[in-house]
Amino acid sequence: MERLLIRGGHALEGEIRISGAKNAALPVLAATLLADGPMKVGNIPHLHDVTTTLELLGRMGVQLTVHEGMEVEVDASTIASFRAPYELVKTMRASILVLGPLLARFGRAEVSLPGGCAIGSRPVDVHIRGLQAMGAQIDISDGYIRAHAGRLQAARVHMQVCTVTGTENLMMAAALARGTSVLENAACEPEVVDLADCLNAMGARISGAGTRTLVIEGVEQLYGVEHRVLPDRIETGTYLTAAAITRGRVKLKDTAPELLGAVLDKLTESGAEIRTGADWIELHMPERPRAVDISTAPYPGFPTDMQAQLCALNTVARGCGRVTETVFENRFMHCLEMQRMGAKIRIDGSTAYIQGVERLTAAPVIATDLRASASLVLAGLVAAGETWVDRIYHIDRGYECIEEKLAQLGADIRRTPE
Ligand code: EPU
Repeated sequence: MERLLIRGGHALEGEIRISGAKNAALPVLAATLLADGPMKVGNIPHLHDVTTTLELLGRMGVQLTVHEGMEVEVDASTIASFRAPYELVKTMRASILVLGPLLARFGRAEVSLPGGCAIGSRPVDVHIRGLQAMGAQIDISDGYIRAHAGRLQAARVHMQVCTVTGTENLMMAAALARGTSVLENAACEPEVVDLADCLNAMGARISGAGTRTLVIEGVEQLYGVEHRVLPDRIETGTYLTAAAITRGRVKLKDTAPELLGAVLDKLTESGAEIRTGADWIELHMPERPRAVDISTAPYPGFPTDMQAQLCALNTVARGCGRVTETVFENRFMHCLEMQRMGAKIRIDGSTAYIQGVERLTAAPVIATDLRASASLVLAGLVAAGETWVDRIYHIDRGYECIEEKLAQLGADIRRTPE
């Protein structure tokens, strides 16, 4: 298994380009199943989760062509199977995103039930209840969700929990249902809005994307179009925090500052000087960062996917930062690894109290999930000595060429076979 070796102590300096958003690319690729005609999706990041999604579509018989620059052409007219098997779903929970489109367009789907994962139990009950409200017959047995339906019927669905992929699944299903659906307590994440934009370009009639209530007038048919996924706000936030923790100065290009409000506010509070343009962000951290308190929340709140990175920042900041995780129940595994690097962290329920230290010390650490691994890399960038980050397959699920991008900014980092 490959590992990352990081020699800490270099302030990051320079410019890099931000990739397309993983969490927008995955639902948009699932939405291609709805199109009557080939779709072209651009700005797709080159990541394991994207490869898994393409493999999933390929196994269903969907025709895929990957052009230069990761522009992917998808033609679902050749589909022959409606199944998302366990061996793919277990590596990527977002495979659940094919459930709504398969059911809405082809009237059947068989999707392995995603289990729990390193950050919590992560049920999909809201997805299932919503589809049942639209008339789907759903049977759960042998670890599979087996769903059947004639044409789905529009429904008013109040989602008990604000869920990103749940909102996306139900939005895709409602787009082809008969009548007008209303989804209440919908997720407002930019990736949900990007999917709605893509579906509307395909001929869907969705209004309210980016608010808590979506109104979806079902249509008979959706068409193949070209769509370019939006920039990755979590990748952006991760590199900004990497610059902040190393007291560096970086410029990130091809990003979207307006999607990062809560993150930029916290980095500014920690002492960073931030400038933004239409599609770039520059960050300079002139001195040792100050500790910040954060509490995660659905968009536009502070993203849970940036919690671990801010924990890393707090470990070397001046003062004590209080970090509360409200979205997932078990998302502090990185803190236990950071403690092994000399971080002073006390966890009490869903809150981590982090007392900043002058310097972390390198240690071999294990990544437990995608964002946890990114936070350990950030910790390694400022630790004295050589940090080895193990199980980096997690990081490859969501960060395109992380070691190349960090090296371009002057970090001493390399990938090694074990
Ligand atoms: N939940 C339920 N029932 C459901 C669905 C969700 O109780 O049917 C709960 C979850 O257990 C969790 C909360 O609702 O406590 C929110 O989870 P959500 O469903 O919003 O998460 P998700 O859709 O599975 C997406 C991202 C995650 C990101 C979360 C929260 C994708 C592919 N994944 O997951 O991204 O953390 O939203 O913003 O969009 C990552 O990129 O590292 C990542 C984990």
